[in-house]
Amino acid sequence: MPSTFIAKGADAYEASMGRWSRKLAAPFLAFAGVPSHGRVLDAGCGTGSLTLALAAHPELTAIEALDFEENFVAALRARTNDPRVSARKGDVCALPHEDKSFDAAYSLLVLHFVSNAEEAISEMRRVLKPGATAAAAVWSHDGMPSWRLFWNTIRAIEPEAEGNGIPSGPRPMTAEGELRALFESAGFADVAEARLTMMMDYANFEDFYLPKVYGQGRFSAFFEALPEARRERLREALRAAYLDGRSEDGPRAFESVAWAVRGVG
Ligand SMILES: C[S@@+](CC[C@H](N)C(=O)[O-])C[C@H]1O[C@@H](n2cnc3c(N)ncnc32)[C@H](O)[C@@H]1O
Repeated sequence: MPSTFIAKGADAYEASMGRWSRKLAAPFLAFAGVPSHGRVLDAGCGTGSLTLALAAHPELTAIEALDFEENFVAALRARTNDPRVSARKGDVCALPHEDKSFDAAYSLLVLHFVSNAEEAISEMRRVLKPGATAAAAVWSHDGMPSWRLFWNTIRAIEPEAEGNGIPSGPRPMTAEGELRALFESAGFADVAEARLTMMMDYANFEDFYLPKVYGQGRFSAFFEALPEARRERLREALRAAYLDGRSEDGPRAFESVAWAVRGVG
């Protein structure tokens, strides 16, 4: 399997992750740059947070999006009728595009889920016109406090969850410099790295808990198979962790970090 990202469905993805991608898309594009004309690629588009941010640039003539989850591709198609946008099912490690055919290539929060990220990065380089830029971003393992709170609470209460949607350690490339090194070894020039920050803000415990528990296929399946008493014990532990010693439920905001890299092909 070329990915460790197991989707549960487009709506569940939107609630658990798509909302953060939408927030991250603007600082990511500010760092990556958008060409003044031409055709661009969103490799691993998900439900289209970045694709739609690219479509806000009227100077682009074609925005091509690709993801191997058919239902994400369908959700993206349903979100826009912009004739410049096209979305298809495909593998970022074997892009179905011609060499030197894009004016920019982007991949937002994808490469740390791809089993062979080197292949995906070299494919992004292959499809770029000479002198064009590719850019990618991945979450920082240490820069995801709300997710670490979630994962670590679950590990403490239900150790069997590890490997069932709860990662058993940092994903590849989620530390500073790792994605940058892959861009350099793929032959990109003028490689630059940036630390992008944004707030993951939750309205209340339910807003924190429900999308995380039901948003990702493998953990949701594990959770739903637990006896009710164990699900309730987990919920109470997560609620205590979210409340963090305060008696009132309500908004909480967690500063979160992604590593972004760009390079010239
Ligand atoms: C965390 S999501 C990010 C999606 C989107 N870029 C966003 O920011 O919302 C990771 C995406 O990568 C896709 N993906 C993972 N491996 C892939 C591969 N080898 N080829 C195409 N898509 C892949 C998944 O299906 C999923 O949509």
